[in-house]
Order: sequence, then structure tokens, then C-alpha cells
Amino acid sequence: MNRIAVIADIHANPFALEAVLADIADRGVDETVVAGDLVGRGPLGSSVVQRVQSENLKSVRGNHEDYMIAFKNREVPEEWLEIPEWSCARWMAAELSEDDYLFIESLPFTMTAEADSNIRIVHGSPRSNNEGIGPWTDRESLVEHLDSVEEPVLVCAHTHRPGVWQVDERMIVNVGSVGLPFNKDSRAQYALFEGAGSTWDVELVKVDYDRQQLLEAYDSTGFLAEGGATSLLLKREVEEATPFLVPFLRWAEVVDVRPTPDAIPEFLDFHRPDLSLREQYERLMALTEQ
Ligand SMILES: [Fe+2]
Repeated sequence: MNRIAVIADIHANPFALEAVLADIADRGVDETVVAGDLVGRGPLGSSVVQRVQSENLKSVRGNHEDYMIAFKNREVPEEWLEIPEWSCARWMAAELSEDDYLFIESLPFTMTAEADSNIRIVHGSPRSNNEGIGPWTDRESLVEHLDSVEEPVLVCAHTHRPGVWQVDERMIVNVGSVGLPFNKDSRAQYALFEGAGSTWDVELVKVDYDRQQLLEAYDSTGFLAEGGATSLLLKREVEEATPFLVPFLRWAEVVDVRPTPDAIPEFLDFHRPDLSLREQYERLMALTEQ
């Protein structure tokens, strides 16, 4: 019988990470694995990278590791290196040290748990670290994802929404997010697996921590002052545990305004975080038909 903890989407939030690591230590596990997105979408990426290294945790590379590496290497459209809309990404990329980059660049796209090779870990899906598996994924796609790996248990993250899908004898588990959940529960979240081979019990764990410390770091580090609309909306995501940033960017595109702080009040008038993602999308698309 093995006990394996999978944590993911820490997003530069060391306070949530500490709470989760303490909870895992209390419970006792054979291994803790990180399913990517240590950095990005938060002010203290370097601290998270160093903590993951000091704990000797194995990790896969999330899409936000890719984004930071792309910014550091200036492999992004030229204007992103200058315009205010991308100030937050530039700030976060500059916050990471050379050593942090060496570590995140070394992370593989996928791996199996060391304590049990029946558990396959990816950030998004087996084919992309930018594809999320969630309630919107139909059964045919779930089977396709499982067929594309050899292991009976596929563990993913990326959507910041935990979930478990049983497909015959196999299983897909989305572990949710440590540092920035989107399931309207702002506690730090991860998944604990207990079992062996193809038979596992999964517990989706939620751990309370002091969000105020993170929000204070938003101020003290300059992240909020220098990150433009992005930081302002990320702060709101921490407080409400639901997406604001991506809906804002989509809305700005549809109504054709620049996604700057000035546009936020009009967006907040329009945005309905209480609706389902599908309803939000349909409401936005209705704007294009007006
Ligand atoms: Fe993420």
C-alpha cells in the first residue's frame, strides 16, 4: 500500500504551499509529486521554486513554467516586452533567479510516481500542458487520454478545479490548485492517493491558510503596483477563488478595448462569476451579435 500526495498549480504562493506541506507531513506519505505551475500568476515564484527543491520534490513542467522561460529568453512577440498589458508577466519573469530557471527548465513534460509507476503525472493532458481536463471533457476524450498512456491512473491539474473521473477500471484525477483554486473554495487544495497498482482511493484535500500574507506580499513586493490589470485581477482570484483574469481578457477582446486597469470597472459590471463557465461564454458570445 502506497500513499502519494500530488500537489499542483502553486502559482508563486509559498504560504499555501507551506500549509499543504505541513498537512502532508502530518498524514505521512511515501512520496509527494508536483504536477506543474510552481510559478506564474503570483508574486513569490522564486521562493516556491526554492522550497520545492529543498524538499527534493519531483515535478513536471506546467504551461506557466513555459511562459516564464519564454519571457526570459525573449521568445515572445516583441511588443510583449514593452507594452503595459504584459507588465505582470515581465515582473514575474524578472523575479526568478538564474538558478530558478535552471530548475524549471530541467522539468520534464510528464513522469510516473517513483513510489508507484502505475501513476502517470501530467500538468494539463497527456498531449499538452495547456489543455485542461474537467467536467466539460466528454467520456470519449477521457478514454482517449487514458488510451494514450500506459498507466491505469492519470493525474493532471491546470484547471484549478479538482475532480475524479472513473473510466471502467481506470481513473483520471485532477488534483486542483494549491495556490490559486477556481472552485470557489479559497483553501489550498491537493490530492492524496492511497493504494497500489490500479486500485486507489483518492482524497481531495483542502487546507486552510492565511491568504492575508499573500495579499500583503502583493503590496510589499511591488507586484500589485507594477503588474497592471493582471495583478489587480489575480488579487481578486485569490480572494474569491474564481477566474477573473482570463474572462477579462476575453471580454476586452470581444468589446475591443485595451485590457488596462481603466477597463476593469466596466468588465466587473458585465462579469457574472456566479454563472457556469458555459453560461459565461454564451453571454460573452451574445455581445458579439449585438
Ligand atoms: Fe495553473
